Amino acid sequence: MKLLLIGSGGREHALAWKLSMSKNCSKLYCAPGNPGMEDLAECVDIAADDIEGLTDFAVDKKIDLVVVGPETPLVMGVADPMRARGLKVFGPSKAAARLEGSKGFTKDICQKYNIPTAAFGRFTKVDEAVAFIEKTGAPIVIKADGLAAGKGVVIAQSIEEAIVAAKDMLSGNAFGSAGAEIVVEEYLDGEELSFFALADGKTVLPFTSAQDHKRVGDGDVGPNTGGMGAYSPAHLLTHDLHLKIMEQIIKPTMRAMEAEGCPFEGVLYAGVMVVKGDPYLIEYNTRFGDPECQTMMLRLQDDLLEVLNACATGTLGDFSKINFSDDIALGVVMAARGYPASYAKGGVIGGLDKAQDVQGVKVFQAGTAKNDKAEIISVGGRVLCVTALGDSVLEAQQKAYEAVDKIDWDDGFCRRDIGYRAVKVEKAKVA
Ligand code: AMP
Ligand code: GLY
Repeated sequence: MKLLLIGSGGREHALAWKLSMSKNCSKLYCAPGNPGMEDLAECVDIAADDIEGLTDFAVDKKIDLVVVGPETPLVMGVADPMRARGLKVFGPSKAAARLEGSKGFTKDICQKYNIPTAAFGRFTKVDEAVAFIEKTGAPIVIKADGLAAGKGVVIAQSIEEAIVAAKDMLSGNAFGSAGAEIVVEEYLDGEELSFFALADGKTVLPFTSAQDHKRVGDGDVGPNTGGMGAYSPAHLLTHDLHLKIMEQIIKPTMRAMEAEGCPFEGVLYAGVMVVKGDPYLIEYNTRFGDPECQTMMLRLQDDLLEVLNACATGTLGDFSKINFSDDIALGVVMAARGYPASYAKGGVIGGLDKAQDVQGVKVFQAGTAKNDKAEIISVGGRVLCVTALGDSVLEAQQKAYEAVDKIDWDDGFCRRDIGYRAVKVEKAKVA
């Protein structure tokens, strides 16, 4: 099969790595890809949001399966013109991608179909938002409705802070049109996990889970980022909680999307807050998480191409489950100094091979490019994800940091505590 993978991040590097292993993969194109993928695929210079360019390319090359990595093309609706032209696509339609593209849409679905989530209101007018905030009290959460690269959420500790955030978003100052509407919701005090499920419009199957680390600093302090590291599976996910998430959140959402006339195909990523053992939906994404994907791909034992193709062709029912190694995978993101604000660019990155010599380690690239000496340089905020497999979270963590320490990059930094919650639980069990 000839494949086109859309995107250029660490998630896509991990997907390309796994897809290229499939016995059915005869050719893999990545648009636009990154230098880390060059050994696995042919990178073509089409931007991930160039819907027409991507569609024309896929038709022209007679692509058998298009895999969409990032949210932007999905929310723009890349799957629709592709399907209209006879292509098979792994990823939801524009209407189904509203689960990620509009927080308000998702909250309305939760309310209508009785899916557990924080109590909320949707607002376009400042005075109505202020009245709701004053009535609810702090802490309280203010969210831009649209896509804001993981940064459109303010957890306000006081009513005053909440009002400032709501005004900032609604005025268009904070997130432009993504903040023209806001969701204001109750603060949920719990621990979060990422839960992934696959769907083909009819059948839904659990994939696996992970736990991300969204704050930039050790101990979960500082501003939110796209994710500074993850491990899989999430230590919180007991058998009982898994069942609750499937029965109370994932399956009702799939039924809801079908009832609303936009059945969901692709991967549904639920951000779940666990409060006293019960799951609440924080948000949906309609693609794999980054860096969660890098850890999950290290554990996946099935042929990724077969699995994604089943989602795209309505044959997911042929699988009884998706198989993963029992090992733990842990990924540490190395970011450029300054991230998530403006960051350093252009520094040379060495030691990638030495890092990958550590047993069980894969380094996935994201914001990288090559300079005129063919050296790898940093050009993005999140630049590498150093990912390791181990028998325990502690072992995976030790290997990942052993590999991180072999990377030679002056502008790079990372959190030193990825997986700390799970390591603490592991240590308590041994003691
Ligand atoms: P989101 O972009 O919706 O994932 O929100 C970013 C982060 O804000 C989440 O990962 C949570 O840690 C936090 N968050 C979002 N909504 C809530 C909530 N209702 N209560 C507590 N924390 C929240
Ligand atoms: N790691 C968070 C995300 O992919 O949205």
